[in-house]
Amino acid sequence: MSMIRNTLTAFALAGAVGLTPAIAAAQNMRIGLITPPNHVWSQAAVAMGEELNEATGGRITLQAFPGGQLGNEAQMLQMLQTGALDMAFMTVAEISNRVPEFGAFFAPFLADDISHAARIIRSDVATELLDLLPEEAGVMGLGFGSAGMRQMVSRVAVSTAADLNGLKIRITPVDAFRDFYNALGTAPTPMPLPAVYDALANAQVDAIDMDAELIWAMRYFEQAPTVLETNHALFPMVGLVSGRVWAGLDGDDQTLIRETMQRHLDATIDTYIEKDPEWMAQVEAEESVNYSRIGPDFFADAIAEWEATWAERAPVLSALRAVADETR
Ligand code: BEZ
Repeated sequence: MSMIRNTLTAFALAGAVGLTPAIAAAQNMRIGLITPPNHVWSQAAVAMGEELNEATGGRITLQAFPGGQLGNEAQMLQMLQTGALDMAFMTVAEISNRVPEFGAFFAPFLADDISHAARIIRSDVATELLDLLPEEAGVMGLGFGSAGMRQMVSRVAVSTAADLNGLKIRITPVDAFRDFYNALGTAPTPMPLPAVYDALANAQVDAIDMDAELIWAMRYFEQAPTVLETNHALFPMVGLVSGRVWAGLDGDDQTLIRETMQRHLDATIDTYIEKDPEWMAQVEAEESVNYSRIGPDFFADAIAEWEATWAERAPVLSALRAVADETR
């Protein structure tokens, strides 16, 4: 209703001053995510939609589809490429399967902690990577968000790197994580987020690679009581718009969508700086949890092996490591 009213008002005003109005087209858009509805990313997507709606008097609407309702990330990326989906908040993991340069973000122990991770994600070197996306993936990357740092949760006790040997560990489907866990002598098992809870509950995997928010919210530790606070990798998210859809938007709408999305993406980075340590502290305080903190020394050989492969696959890695050193 409000969109019709606004359109009519625009016509009436233009008529009063004798102009032919240029009315921007209505946009009923959809954004897809694999995260559950109450997750930080899903809430950011809803808030972004509300803001776009309000800023345009209802001319732009954005409906969020969380929980993988539109498919997994690989499927959503395809939909973005054809224009069947307008937007997504997507793991950099999926993007790095298409554009290996993005795999540099997953360098083991690139960041010391969540605040350091934020400085790396917000760096110019990171931002410039987004320029690769239109050509190499058919999507516009408008900015980065975050999902905190990666940790491990295991059904079996782990006190040395040797204890990880042969364990079937769920990973986000991404080559960079697969290579790290292979180097550790585990059996990495790629699995999209929505499948993880049941797989752990049914003992299809021995352990999972996961972030603090979901370890706490999904209470994976009730199935797998050993929690290793490793902070072994960053986990950036990228805000995408279909290249085809983007090309059909007028310049003002592009600016509005870019600025609004960037603000909401960036806010997720601040949320994880504040909340990651709180979530991990809550997990540690659980009586059933066997909690330990593990640093890079534990993984030393695997880190060197990973680096040898990825220095070649993602040449931006050296620049990203330089950013990490400068921002320590
Ligand atoms: C995961 O694959 O572990 C994941 C995906 C999206 C957000 C957070 C975690």
